[in-house]
Amino acid sequence: MLLPEMEEAAMDALRNDKFLRGENVVKFEEEFARFVGTDFAVSVSSGTNALQFIMVALDLSGKRTVTTPTSFIATANAVVQAGGTPVFADVDGSDFCLDPSMAEEALRGGAAGLLPVHIYGHPADMDAFGELSVRYGVPVVEDACQAHGAVYKGKRAGALGTAAAFSFYPSKNMTVLGDGGMVTTDDEKVAERVSKLRDGGRSSWYEHDVLGYTSRLSSVSAAIGRVQLRHLGEWNMRRRAVAAAYRRGLKDLPGVKLPPDGGGGREPVYHQFVIRTQDRGWLQERLGANGVETAIHYPIPIHLQPLYVRLFGYGPGAYPASEGLAKEVLSLPMHPLLSDEDVEYVCELIRRFSGGGA
Ligand SMILES: Cc1ncc(COP(=O)(O)O)c(C=O)c1O
Repeated sequence: MLLPEMEEAAMDALRNDKFLRGENVVKFEEEFARFVGTDFAVSVSSGTNALQFIMVALDLSGKRTVTTPTSFIATANAVVQAGGTPVFADVDGSDFCLDPSMAEEALRGGAAGLLPVHIYGHPADMDAFGELSVRYGVPVVEDACQAHGAVYKGKRAGALGTAAAFSFYPSKNMTVLGDGGMVTTDDEKVAERVSKLRDGGRSSWYEHDVLGYTSRLSSVSAAIGRVQLRHLGEWNMRRRAVAAAYRRGLKDLPGVKLPPDGGGGREPVYHQFVIRTQDRGWLQERLGANGVETAIHYPIPIHLQPLYVRLFGYGPGAYPASEGLAKEVLSLPMHPLLSDEDVEYVCELIRRFSGGGA
């Protein structure tokens, strides 16, 4: 969402701040760390780089990391880009997130890291991952790219593991109106390593002692991010209200399964509101014909993406819960500007058309 105060902050940064390494970057990192509740936040130029740099900083290069096939492909790509190997474990059909008991099997098989994803803004079962982390002596990296402001038992996503990655891509709950990302952690060493990796691997201005990248967030992006962060709470509240309205409007509808609504101390932020239906194709077509745009997150689970079939030889049937979701999930319109009438209209169409494609 572009508000006049964001334009003003961007212009001010352009005119008065350094283009890179500016005061806005430092302040955005401080404010984001305070918001999440970690000692450190280090900005980078995408969520993918945030994940990749965490993996390198935690020495997971050359090792296996367990993650979920139900995510955007960048989750697994970042592991590969860091020189590691993603191994998948299936999701828990009830919350769409990595299933800790399946993840444990991969740990028993020698995996050295855990990478749960708070998919659609719904926190994963972090107590269980915390226990696995202690039992197997492995770090837990949160993919919080869809979960800005989500809460798990009183703590915010991003402060629930060893380190976490956020994305500020324009569709996210908060954005820098371009690409951007952030790493949050309490581990000073991880923060220092990530900050070196994003800045050419510098140990001093003219000296480089690790293989670094150019992945800094610009001061203009940071200035916009600072304003967005101030609005995130009110936007997330509206997303929750929209989700509650969908629940009322779609309650008890045969053939339509609603997404998890938190519980167990979880407060999701509804990056997406995802229903499950066997009539997805028909329903999506009918909604589209009536002016309602929907999307599918994600029609192909990561292990069945051509890249992963080619790299690792996965085939259908490997992760049945994820493959089932891929066939049935449908993301309804979800953003803070939706009115109650908009939501009621979508619900009315779904009530009219669901079951009709059988
Ligand atoms: C779950 C998840 N992980 C990782 C990413 C990668 O973030 P980015 O697009 O900023 O690289 C995204 C977003 O696109 C995402 O949704």
